Amino acid sequence: MNIGIIGSGTMGISIAHFMAQKNHSTTIFDSSKISLKQGKKKLLTLLSKLKEKEKYTEKEYSNILENLNFAEDIKKIKKSDLLIEAIIEDSEVKKKLFTEVEKIVSKKCIIATNTSSLSITSLASSVNENGRFIGMHFFNPANLMPLVEIIPAIQTNNKTVEESKKILQEMGKTVVTTKDTPGFIVNRVARPFYGEAIRIFEEGLANFETIDWAMKEIGGFRMGPFELMDFIGNDINYTVTKTVFEEFYFDQRYKPSFTQKRLMEAGYLGKKTGRGFYNYIDESEKNISKNRELGKNIVLRILAMLVNEAADAYYLNIASKKDIDLAMTKGVNYPKGLLKWADEIGVDTIFKILETLYDKYCEDRYRPSPILRKMTKENIKFY
Ligand code: NAI
Repeated sequence: MNIGIIGSGTMGISIAHFMAQKNHSTTIFDSSKISLKQGKKKLLTLLSKLKEKEKYTEKEYSNILENLNFAEDIKKIKKSDLLIEAIIEDSEVKKKLFTEVEKIVSKKCIIATNTSSLSITSLASSVNENGRFIGMHFFNPANLMPLVEIIPAIQTNNKTVEESKKILQEMGKTVVTTKDTPGFIVNRVARPFYGEAIRIFEEGLANFETIDWAMKEIGGFRMGPFELMDFIGNDINYTVTKTVFEEFYFDQRYKPSFTQKRLMEAGYLGKKTGRGFYNYIDESEKNISKNRELGKNIVLRILAMLVNEAADAYYLNIASKKDIDLAMTKGVNYPKGLLKWADEIGVDTIFKILETLYDKYCEDRYRPSPILRKMTKENIKFY
């Protein structure tokens, strides 16, 4: 296949890496020559490191290089069968680009956007023949993370949906399909992992080192929420939360926190600036209170909030049960699918935790999804 990629930043480069590795001729264009040069350098350095580490044979390495084309002229994407846009997250800039792209590529070319927060339907409106427009949300780094969320716009035709799924599945990706709603699956369902952890910290129930310890040691998560926020970047994580909050017409469940906003304002963005919740320059001994009872309560509270999001997404037909669980295990490495986990803990137990929190705080943030209430009443499981 001929793959066209527009944008040679973090995502464009890692999607190109993946495609070229899967033996597809891949052309990358960026409107900034500097960005294109930087992206190329970054990718070639990574590839040569991987070859040194013997992740690729000489043959594989030379094939990947042969499959990669860096273009300064947008017309070089002309032959694309699949075009993936990965430029800055700006609706107007993206729409202008799609209008231009449509004039260059063939009518058969699938036009996909990797946006993480914009409406696919709104972007599709910039293309005349918009039945072939679709959202393909890859995860960072796209060459390693197996998940891709497929998001049909209102205008997308079935053929495009089926073809997109098939193409990605044949390349070995785990594909889930989701409705065009804010945050799709992962960025919506994962919000409480950060938000509720910060809330527990703000209330002074535990410090963030202890919360991270509990989520890893007792919850089985690979990284604690605060470590993960520092890793993602507090600026990026805060912005995703804020966007989801605004897009959901200020639903209190997604309310961002001042704690994280202040860190962002201070430039304490996390690992990339040497300081976030943690200090990576002057690493001091972590102050963890290894109280298992407290740890268990922390995990259950955050987990109940996560399950509530997953259950509500299912209730509102955002995606299937299976896809919601797959998205969280393959997209953000959760140890278990949240709905499966709810069955193990007991849907009634989860519901009770939420109801208790709702009673205690009288905040809409803790309102249980109607499906959990119904399932508890009727004593049914997700699977
Ligand atoms: P980035 O800032 O690293 O790269 C964006 C690139 O787009 C830059 O090289 C810039 O020169 C180029 N660009 C800007 N306007 C352009 C135009 N009109 N035509 C051609 N190139 C143009 O951004 P990043 O992080 O790679 O994100 C790209 C897209 O992927 C965004 O929509 C973002 O929401 C989405 N995304 C990002 C993820 C991440 O972890 N960074 C994860 C999943 C999706």
